[in-house]
Amino acid sequence: MNWKLLGFSVVVAAVAYVGFSASKPAASVGALNAAIIPKPAALEVQEGAYLLEEGTTINVPAGQADLLPVAKYLSDKLRITTGLNLVVVEGGEANDGIRFTSAKMDMPREGYSLHVGTRGADIIAATPEGFFYGALSLWQLAQDAGEGEVAVPFVSVSDEPRMEWRGAMLDVSRHFRSVEFVKDFIDWMAVHKMNVFHWHLTDDQGWRIEIKKYPRLTEVGAWRVPAGAAPKADIDPATGTPRLYGGYYTQDQVREVVAYAAERFITVMPEIDLPGHASAAVAAYPQFGTEPVDAVSSDWGIYYSTFNLEDETIAFLEDVMDETLALFPSKFVHIGGDEVSTKQWENSARIKERMEELGIEDVHEIQSYFTRHFANYLAERGRRLIGWDEILEGGSIADSAIMSWRGTKGGVEAAKAGRQVVMAPSPIYYTDYRQSYMTDEPPGREHVQTLQDIYEFDPLEGLSEEETKAVLGAQVTVFTEHMRTEARVEHMAFPRLLALAETVWSPEHNHDYRDFASRLMPHMARLKALGLEPADSAYAVQFDAKPDTGGQVVLTMKTQSGLGDIRYTLGGGEPSASSPLYEGVMTLPLGETVTAAAFYGDEPLSKSRMGVLSERAFLRREDDELTLCSAALAIKLDDDYPKEGNRANFLVDIVEPCWIYENPAMDGVTGLEVSVGNLPYNFQIGDLINSVTLAKPETSTGEIVVYKDSCDGEELARLPLAPATASFGVTTLEASIKAVPDAKALCFRVAANHYEPLWAIDWVQLVKGN
Ligand code: ACM
Repeated sequence: MNWKLLGFSVVVAAVAYVGFSASKPAASVGALNAAIIPKPAALEVQEGAYLLEEGTTINVPAGQADLLPVAKYLSDKLRITTGLNLVVVEGGEANDGIRFTSAKMDMPREGYSLHVGTRGADIIAATPEGFFYGALSLWQLAQDAGEGEVAVPFVSVSDEPRMEWRGAMLDVSRHFRSVEFVKDFIDWMAVHKMNVFHWHLTDDQGWRIEIKKYPRLTEVGAWRVPAGAAPKADIDPATGTPRLYGGYYTQDQVREVVAYAAERFITVMPEIDLPGHASAAVAAYPQFGTEPVDAVSSDWGIYYSTFNLEDETIAFLEDVMDETLALFPSKFVHIGGDEVSTKQWENSARIKERMEELGIEDVHEIQSYFTRHFANYLAERGRRLIGWDEILEGGSIADSAIMSWRGTKGGVEAAKAGRQVVMAPSPIYYTDYRQSYMTDEPPGREHVQTLQDIYEFDPLEGLSEEETKAVLGAQVTVFTEHMRTEARVEHMAFPRLLALAETVWSPEHNHDYRDFASRLMPHMARLKALGLEPADSAYAVQFDAKPDTGGQVVLTMKTQSGLGDIRYTLGGGEPSASSPLYEGVMTLPLGETVTAAAFYGDEPLSKSRMGVLSERAFLRREDDELTLCSAALAIKLDDDYPKEGNRANFLVDIVEPCWIYENPAMDGVTGLEVSVGNLPYNFQIGDLINSVTLAKPETSTGEIVVYKDSCDGEELARLPLAPATASFGVTTLEASIKAVPDAKALCFRVAANHYEPLWAIDWVQLVKGN
């Protein structure tokens, strides 16, 4: 019998709401949802629901102790989100409650079916991972039914994943993350049925894995002084030198993480980057570098640093790999291979000698020499090499797989050549891009990629059915240059990671963004109960306020997803589920304050946002509300100060710091306030540094120059930066300007002799005269 033909029809419903008639009478009835993320392959919702209670059993068949941890995981998760303590039992009578039953027929390894009816829930699967995924679907169905009751709607689910590799990469080099956080991140992946955690452990800015044979890798390579004047002035009394920032994982900690992930059916795949992104390793062991490195640097971007071609260097890398393989059972081992510069090799007489000895004809073949060597090394040990798509340039290297990051092109090319591929295309699967245009959106790369953008991208586009067989799956990457804190990682990665989870798990015909974002609404509270603070960008209330005649303001409110009940207060109070519901455009008096948040029933979906509808507010623009003159390399950057607490951030093109205030209301404006910050220019951007464009200054410390209409228009003001040079934080500069009521725009440029420090605008305020 085909496991899919279990006698229920396939219903591909949006969030399915069922009338509540519980198998035991519930004190109050409400609409229950069957909102599972990622959406099951087939889900049918029936009338009625089963009540879970304190002591309800989760029954595991006798002799299947391997399922006990899965049952325990389910009871732990139910306790967290419903408060109920269920009891795990092995063998005996399968009472009412939750029952695990081994499949009597063939089932896909990760597949399961789930039936909830009057006697409770049956999860049927053939493997522990199948039960795990069934349990997770059941967990998401358990919900508050009012009056303290917890119910699971009657459903029939038949499910299996679309793709075998459902991954996420976390970069812990740019900012070290605690073991606890890494474990939480893995758990948040697991509850969405993801199964590969790609741990980006080494890079230029930090080496994060203990290698016992080479202790300096972590003694030296794991620590750096953060960029900027403020951290340089933060002297560690113990050493009399600037305080170091960093950390690493001991081998015991790595084992702990790998075991924790395995309990959640997640493979941890390590990445040891070679032969580039090598600068932290070379800082620790200069003898292995083509050129020495003084200390681990805090610059972002692409370094020139590479490993050299000495036998000792290859032996060193093999030693590192030996210790790595002993910690990670993963079949695939990632060797990086991205963004390798040949510059140092080209400049080295010794490299030329070694090339001759090794029969390497061209510097561009050095990388494939490394890749080939480690592909063989790994194959001899029963493992397989995977690398970023640059490794394709070295030709076909037996049995290695490609991770396509420069778009899907490399992946498509590799798949067409029959090589195995994981799709991790930039920019769409890069969560270091911002996810909304909200002014409180934290730092990130400039281009905005919403939850919807990620959801609607299909990584298999452009491939024939035959070619898709070479695609193992897809993953998001969390490169963390601009995610200083763990809270920022949560914000940038979630809920966008859930969009990917659905892409890789659910059949393509089930993909529907509005349906997904609707299912995410009841799920947001569950995420928070797991200790995760997901971005609320899809549900945050956006204000569009326009002054009207007669001292009135016309206000429109919306959310990015168009979902959620917007509730608001006037005059400054925090909105609650009983605050007035926004039902359409409002007219309010000038000077009013509106505070609004989106809700799903009683649960807030977003933090509240406040809009001050004053005349002064209408004359102010945050950096996000200004237009960048160019977007050569635009980033929203964090200030380097203060060490603790909130920092200002700045949206700036680091190649041309220049902003346009479009359509200013200049009537009566006689002055300007410009808030500016100075940032370290910690970017390795190669030759692009020669293109940095600054206006000509009149003073040694520079100015912000303001032009009328366009950046080559009439100069209206020049605000000296001198008063801001003494501050690590932001400084408000002031200037008067002549009346220009007809100005169509104001252009703000940085005039300076040098790109360091990088001056950036936080906000601009137009000031009216009396
Ligand atoms: C990468 O983003 N350099 C893989």
